[in-house]
Amino acid sequence: MQLRLSQAILKPDFQGEFTASILAAAASPDIISFAGGLPNPVSFPIPEMEAATKKVLEQNGVTALQYSSTAGWPALRRWIAKRYETMGVYGVEADDIIVTNGSQQALAMFGMAMIDPGDPVLVEDPTYLVALQSFHMFNPNVIPVTMNADGIDCEKLAAAVKAHPDAKFIYVIPNFQNPTGLSYSQQVHDKVVEILKGTDILLLEDNPYRELRFAGTATDSFGADLGEQCCMLGTFSKIVTPGMRIGWICVRNQELRAKLMSYKATADLHTNIFSQMVLAQYLEDNDVDAHIEKTRQLYKQKAEWMMDCMRRYLPAGVSFTPTEGGMFLWATLPEGLTAVDLYRRGLERGVAICPGDPFYETERNVRTFRINYSNSSDEIIEKGIRILGEVCADMIK
Ligand SMILES: Cc1ncc(COP(=O)(O)O)c(C=O)c1O
Repeated sequence: MQLRLSQAILKPDFQGEFTASILAAAASPDIISFAGGLPNPVSFPIPEMEAATKKVLEQNGVTALQYSSTAGWPALRRWIAKRYETMGVYGVEADDIIVTNGSQQALAMFGMAMIDPGDPVLVEDPTYLVALQSFHMFNPNVIPVTMNADGIDCEKLAAAVKAHPDAKFIYVIPNFQNPTGLSYSQQVHDKVVEILKGTDILLLEDNPYRELRFAGTATDSFGADLGEQCCMLGTFSKIVTPGMRIGWICVRNQELRAKLMSYKATADLHTNIFSQMVLAQYLEDNDVDAHIEKTRQLYKQKAEWMMDCMRRYLPAGVSFTPTEGGMFLWATLPEGLTAVDLYRRGLERGVAICPGDPFYETERNVRTFRINYSNSSDEIIEKGIRILGEVCADMIK
């Protein structure tokens, strides 16, 4: 038979092949991989989940195994709504929360709700690759805005907003951005608010790493200043478990919320209710802050160890941005070298990094690369960085 696929699915996935090849190569058991971004299993509370699962099945088994409502399990939505107080956002109601299949689904839902072909959409440059891929499914005109060490470049943002007043939204990751590990300073945060206030440009805040801060202080969520102009994404993936696939979108604009809900109902009826109930039970019966603190301390030690190794083994000219949380470090090769070349040569020596290229809307053959520290042992971190140092030294020669 001749397969007659839709034009939409035939459209090349933005950077999809490139990323798939990196991840496939990095997945080999013989490779030291700093290319991915797996949370450390220390964050998976296995016995507690077992107890929560048992309790849910015993006390509420029929509900847990039955179809459920699109917005999500009320107890979980109440917990999420209350959590916003720790980010300076008060008055969030459980009704404002839609539980999604990871925050990844919320990105695609938001793209679906907001983007018509050709619509300008502002993003940090570089930004989370899979957000770019989600938005690209709807053929937007993606306008990248440079990231500085303290957040988005506000002069460039102001210029982009002026040039594209019809931009539908801006997508930002204000804490330990993926890929750069950078966070917004209070000054940049305030300036972004000033630029956007009074416009019809929504701000989509993605915040998976905020709870993983081990030093310094975080800015409040943009939702504290922008009210319903800000939609906030969140996830349990980095603090409890990615496997249960529980994330959310907090939307305080009722019209948008209704549209997102009707789209989600069409896409999947609802997020796995069994997972939602087990997670809600886990949160009720355990001290999740103490749990997150364990992960935070482990990542602090790993990040500091990796930075230590980088200072020791990387040759002069290779720089990196120190981090205060999250799961990644962002490094830059000297002028004239490319991260794709480092990736290839590193792989030949058994070490994989993630070149920066797929995180940029337009730039290619960049000098920047991302390395992950959350899920490698100290020995592997030292061995991998030592080898990378030798490869970089060869490239510089
Ligand atoms: C910035 C960012 N947003 C969203 C996600 C998706 O996470 P999940 O779907 O597991 O909630 C990730 C995953 O790494 C991420 O880095």
